[in-house]
Amino acid sequence: MVMRSRVLGCGIFLPSNVVTNQDLEQRVDTSDEWIVQRTGIRSRHIAAEGEKTSDLAIAAATRALEHAGVPGSSIDCIILATTTPDNTFPATATKVQAALGAAGFAMDIQAVCAGFVYAMSVADNFLRNGQARRALVIGAETFSRLLDWNDRTTCVLFGDGAGAIVMEAYEAKGDSSDRGVLSTHLHSDGNQYDLLYVDGGASSTGTIGHVRMHGQEIFRHAVSKLSAVVEEALAANGLESTDIDWMVPHQANRRIIDGLARKMKLSPEKVVLTVDRHGNTSAASIPLALGEAVADGRIKRGDLILMEAIGGGLTWGSALVRW
Ligand code: ACO
Repeated sequence: MVMRSRVLGCGIFLPSNVVTNQDLEQRVDTSDEWIVQRTGIRSRHIAAEGEKTSDLAIAAATRALEHAGVPGSSIDCIILATTTPDNTFPATATKVQAALGAAGFAMDIQAVCAGFVYAMSVADNFLRNGQARRALVIGAETFSRLLDWNDRTTCVLFGDGAGAIVMEAYEAKGDSSDRGVLSTHLHSDGNQYDLLYVDGGASSTGTIGHVRMHGQEIFRHAVSKLSAVVEEALAANGLESTDIDWMVPHQANRRIIDGLARKMKLSPEKVVLTVDRHGNTSAASIPLALGEAVADGRIKRGDLILMEAIGGGLTWGSALVRW
């Protein structure tokens, strides 16, 4: 017998305000055709003035608790992945903890677009080690606040939203037929710090700053690093890509997702896509896609799910989870 963590439920929240490519055509020199062809994005949700990351996170977490059928007071660990906290400190996770009446401890994780995989990995380790029994893992972003709305090379790519899962420790058999997290694999390469960053910060400029990105370089790293970390996950569990029922990727760009699926020889029907309607919601994109596919009945108990993400840092990782 081994300790594992399994997912009890999930929930999502998207701000009601939808911004289409046509809306963006009015703001910057771009076109629906350019955006769709290069990224697959058609629209994205943008938080209203005053709508904060904690609001999105609390809404998604509340739905995840309902779906799991457990009260907030039973949660003893909250890990919130976000690049856009309400305040530089305290951790936004502590606001979520107070709103849900949760016990234990709460913290934020910063790994940009890889944030949800990092957060799941941290929670999984706490749960397997017995330091927590029931965890809430959240990806929540108001990424629109970091955008330079005059920079067409970045402002068309991102959106806001939140997704959450409830995870619980349990005693499993210890093979790849177990429910729950089979393994997580994390990497970073700080030599690539300048490929994707925000040109501000508390200790540098004293401002929040705006997203700056070398898009083609990111693209070049994405498919190779993601396919390597997927191979790593499959090998660690003695599984093949043919065993995967659903790939739930970070939703940065349709072309990155298609490129990885082709490399893995995974049929397009097995890939959960939301990038067309959500854009890139950074740490929220995987739990948003997961939540949609669970809610519409595509993901079923026992399915093998592959999650993968890459983001600024560079940071990247994968998680194999049996639902
Ligand atoms: N609308 C119209 N034209 C644009 C736009 C726009 N929104 N943005 C850039 N252009 C122009 C450029 O100015 C350039 O014009 P020029 O040839 O006259 O100089 C031309 O389009 C081509 O620009 P490139 O940057 O070479 O375009 P590319 O084909 O590389 O596509 C993109 C850009 C979509 C950003 C691509 O590089 C990409 O997808 N990179 C991955 C980055 C990514 O996904 N980042 C998300 C965060 S990281 C993550 O989550 C993985």
